[in-house]
Amino acid sequence: MTSPTTTAGPDAASVSSTLAALADPATRPHPYPVLSALRDASPAFDPETGIVVVGRRADCEVVLRNPTVSSDRTGSDIAKVPQQPNLMNLDVPDHTRLRRLAGKAFKPRIIHAWRPRIEAIVRELLTEIATAGGGTVDVVSSFAYPLPVRVICEMLGVPKEDHPVFERWATAIAYTVDPQLVPGRRELDVGAEVEEARAGFIGYFSRLIAERKQDPRDDILSELIAAEESGDQLTERELIIMCILLLVAGHETTANLILNGIQALLRHPEQLALLRDDPSLAEAAVEEVLRYDAPAQMITRIAREPFTVGGVEIEAGSPILVLLAAANRDPEVHRDPEIFDITREDTGHLGFAAGAHFCLGSVLARLEGAIALRAFAESFVDPVLDTGTLHYRPHVAVRGPDRMDVAFAEIRLATAVAGDDTAADGTPGEAHTHGR
Ligand code: HEM
Repeated sequence: MTSPTTTAGPDAASVSSTLAALADPATRPHPYPVLSALRDASPAFDPETGIVVVGRRADCEVVLRNPTVSSDRTGSDIAKVPQQPNLMNLDVPDHTRLRRLAGKAFKPRIIHAWRPRIEAIVRELLTEIATAGGGTVDVVSSFAYPLPVRVICEMLGVPKEDHPVFERWATAIAYTVDPQLVPGRRELDVGAEVEEARAGFIGYFSRLIAERKQDPRDDILSELIAAEESGDQLTERELIIMCILLLVAGHETTANLILNGIQALLRHPEQLALLRDDPSLAEAAVEEVLRYDAPAQMITRIAREPFTVGGVEIEAGSPILVLLAAANRDPEVHRDPEIFDITREDTGHLGFAAGAHFCLGSVLARLEGAIALRAFAESFVDPVLDTGTLHYRPHVAVRGPDRMDVAFAEIRLATAVAGDDTAADGTPGEAHTHGR
């Protein structure tokens, strides 16, 4: 920004302290008052970090659709740890080329063909919950986290026995996308866990790619290997980095979509009843969760050239914090933005960002989210959120709980998942009952 005096926002010190409040893990359960304050103040400049904050929906779109705004944070203080040069942090023309090739494997037709398998995995998980007994389940570890990992691992052709190690590696790497919002020690040493995860993925995918090249199968990895445009194909290194990105980008985000959805439905029982009575609302429920409680709360960019947003000039080189979750509750766009309403008409959100980097996995995330929320509404009888157990991961950008217990009277497998009214163990017409 040219100077803080050109902004209409609050004084600079309050922007710094509000950003510090956002970064504070204590804010994780209730970030929205802080996000609203930042949105109302934006575009705003933080003199302590040099970060320009944008939070109004229109301003976020201007930033995200500006081709001179870069996703390459190499060398910027806004990146906590060094990033790998993957699709998400490349710019034109490298990004355009990789995106075209990867897009061939992520066509909606290819993704929707996985619906029966995703439904089967949801059924497996519900069966495991029911047979574990107890009448209470941590939906983080038993439902929302295993689902996206099993799905993407199967899509990439990773055998089941290796899924747990993949989950651990993906969780370790997910942390590296968190931005540095307060001045201080940058974590340039990525840590043993991240190094182990990256090395593990590279070794694993090198072997898997070699196998698939010899023996193509009906999976996304084979599609990625075969993807070709004008004689151009992904190199082996690009394939490996793409596989890692798919696992990391699609894992915690999708889990949090499911968890934020379950939590919002349990806190708004009338909305849960709407979904239970009309399961065709599942897709709309997913859109409302992506708006109301976005799993990817913010993303970062770097201005390569000066440009104007919200009447304020941004200097070349400025790091930009794009508050997607604040934009999704912009009162200029949504009526009663703080209200969770799966039947709202003023839909639309920036939950998958916008512009060239719009989420590659959005079709898959929406499909998994709708199947999972519908199954939850139909299968959990008398569910109750145990707010005492609700606990959040420290991550600020991809935000979500690491513990969330739900008590229930019984698990009844939903028609959407089972295809008939069977209990979780497959017993026709009989449900598992557990006292609370
Ligand atoms: C609810 C779940 C998800 C959310 C909220 C989400 C959100 C996002 C957002 C906000 C971006 C833009 C990042 C940026 O511009 O810096 C993005 C990009 C991306 N997402 Fe997702 N995502 C989800 C699920 C998935 C899934 C399931 C996959 C794949 C398996 C995936 C793969 C990607 C990839 C590859 C990119 C980079 C696209 C590019 O740079 O061109 N995402 N996602």
